[in-house]
Amino acid sequence: MIELKDVYKTYPNGVLAVNGISVKINQGEFVYVVGPSGAGKSTFIKMMYREEKPSKGTITINDINLAKLKESKVPYLRRNIGVVFQDFKLLPTLTVYENVAFALEVIQEQPKNIKRRVMDVLDLVRLKHKARFLPHELSGGEQQRVSIARSIVNNPKVMIADEPTGNLDPETSWEIMNIFEEINNRGTTIVMATHNREIVNTVRKRVIAIENGKIARDELRGEYGYDS
Ligand SMILES: Nc1ncnc2c1ncn2[C@@H]1O[C@H](COP(=O)(O)OP(=O)(O)OP(=O)(O)O)[C@@H](O)[C@H]1O
Ligand SMILES: [Mg+2]
Repeated sequence: MIELKDVYKTYPNGVLAVNGISVKINQGEFVYVVGPSGAGKSTFIKMMYREEKPSKGTITINDINLAKLKESKVPYLRRNIGVVFQDFKLLPTLTVYENVAFALEVIQEQPKNIKRRVMDVLDLVRLKHKARFLPHELSGGEQQRVSIARSIVNNPKVMIADEPTGNLDPETSWEIMNIFEEINNRGTTIVMATHNREIVNTVRKRVIAIENGKIARDELRGEYGYDS
């Protein structure tokens, strides 16, 4: 379970990006985070994988208090949380296979387990046949599928995505969305910030709307609710 209690975030320049958020997300939920540009969605999400620390309040994920977590323990946290970004963040000189295997090599997983697990997740994102390709040889949608494979190769209980379809055309966005649904159906919690109104309004899930750093709406099977 993810729980935020009375969380505030003020950046060093004085911007109050998150202004008192309390929320609970249960294991296995699929949550869209929506809201206007600059509302605090990315800040909210970054605090969940400790890219940013809250200025006040507590954030617990599966009983780990992220606000108090020592810097030296952050890599362990990241192994249990898959993160997907708008711009993929693949390592350009590594193949698809190597980009995904990397996360297992750093934890010194046995080579035979690495191979099996990497091929399993590449199969899930339907990219086994491109395992030897380099990122620049792939389309945007394929690159995002590699980054999804990389984020789940450790079998995390929680997956966090910040506008994962932000750089993709509508059809490719739907392919990516289907993969997220498949991962969620296997029990992984998904928290996804998105501006994709069509997806939010079609595949109804819990919607948390953030405006001016606060929760403006929190609805099960909610709507996108903005014009752009
Ligand atoms: N590193 C930072 N330092 C200072 N201010 C920041 C930083 N990151 C974000 N902000 C500010 O915090 C506020 C919230 O930004 P955030 O990126 O969380 O919004 P967002 O809802 O993700 O917007 P978008 O939909 O455009 O991605 C904005 O006013 C932004 O300018
Ligand atoms: Mg953002």
